[in-house]
Amino acid sequence: MSTDNKPSLDAYWMPFTANRQFKKAPRQFVRAAGMHYWTDDGRQVLDGVAGLWCVNAGHARPKIVQAIAAQAQELDYAPPFQMAHPKAFELAERVAALAPAGLNKVFFTNSGSESVETALKMAIAYHRARGEGQRTRLIGRERGYHGVNFGGISVGGLVANRKAFGPLLGGVDHLRHTHDAARNAFSVGQPQHGAELADDLERLCALHDPSTIAAVIVEPVAGSTGVLMPPQGYLQRLRDLCTKHGILLIFDEVITGFGRTGQPFASQTFGVTPDLITAAKGLTNGCVPMGAVMVRQDIHDTFMQGPEHLIEFFHGYTYSAHPLACAAGLATLDTYAEEGLLTRAAELEAYFAQGVHSLKGSPNVIDVRNIGLVGGIELAPREGAPGTRAFDVFLDCFANGLLVRTTGDTVALSPPLIIERSHIDQVIDTLGNAIRRVA
Ligand SMILES: Cc1ncc(COP(=O)(O)O)c(C=O)c1O
Repeated sequence: MSTDNKPSLDAYWMPFTANRQFKKAPRQFVRAAGMHYWTDDGRQVLDGVAGLWCVNAGHARPKIVQAIAAQAQELDYAPPFQMAHPKAFELAERVAALAPAGLNKVFFTNSGSESVETALKMAIAYHRARGEGQRTRLIGRERGYHGVNFGGISVGGLVANRKAFGPLLGGVDHLRHTHDAARNAFSVGQPQHGAELADDLERLCALHDPSTIAAVIVEPVAGSTGVLMPPQGYLQRLRDLCTKHGILLIFDEVITGFGRTGQPFASQTFGVTPDLITAAKGLTNGCVPMGAVMVRQDIHDTFMQGPEHLIEFFHGYTYSAHPLACAAGLATLDTYAEEGLLTRAAELEAYFAQGVHSLKGSPNVIDVRNIGLVGGIELAPREGAPGTRAFDVFLDCFANGLLVRTTGDTVALSPPLIIERSHIDQVIDTLGNAIRRVA
């Protein structure tokens, strides 16, 4: 404790944070409700990013809060290995019903990173179980973000997340990223150019031979690497190539899952069905950590062989299908259904797009990107100090009652799906003013 009875900031090593800078001028939230946070100095802040792309139904929703409290009373914990509890089955069934047709088996994890590790391991083990044990290679994409564990950073394509951590996983290669500012800047919705970039997979197949490749993993919409939209036709081309070569296609929907792009999953928005989907975040409205991997029936069934008393997949977490997370997940899915939130982003997309694209022409704005309730406003980097311009915009927005997020010099918007038009106006006004002030 420090002398003024507030906790000392010393011991907590903060994740993905400039710790020394932060602790000189800390920013703390102490309460949240609906579209808003409140800071420790009593200011109301509009949430422009659903916490961290997860609080899709807005904050402190009574049904979810009550479900968590009741669950803690009734059954606080149940071991998930060789034991279970009813809500785990119920939630799996509800998630499978929302997922694209055919992805009807659900494996629970505790985060997006764990979902990614789970999906990668499933892919490799699946090929082994069907007699193609040589298919171990994993293909990711430059500028991909798949969490922070070793598999995820290996298939991911963010240099800062990789360079300090040694040789990473072997047998990994990358497609080129799809961002093409020269041809696609200021596209409304999916950019027109770049479907041919999927043909990189042909190149990698020619190099490695397809028979060595287990899976390709991409984000349908990349968030953490600058809010990048898939070019028209790109995901379908990737799907076709994976099918042609017997390679599993994994869509990392950790941010796009649960309504962000106007359908429950971006796979449905873009009309392309992968073999596995990784999810987390919006699954429990961010209230209790939980992730999930949705997988095709026949992939699951391939594991179901050998003596019945043997474990089929040597993988799982102490907190897989945690009762509190399952209770939160069920109440979250109820809330989404009752309020039509999983398609609300589609209803608001045009209004939101108009708002974010109105920032074109503001000082240093070099691109604006959008889909559903996702927006990316890219600013020109300052000479020799990349990232600082967007960070100053973030600070200005925060001082003026709006939470945004930055990745490099891109400002990301991903508000709760309960957002109203008046909130969108406030987001655009506050952000526009910040961009002009920081210029
Ligand atoms: C696409 C994607 N995958 C994985 C993750 C990692 O999720 P978590 O931070 O819950 O481990 C994220 C987090 O933002 C993400 O955006």
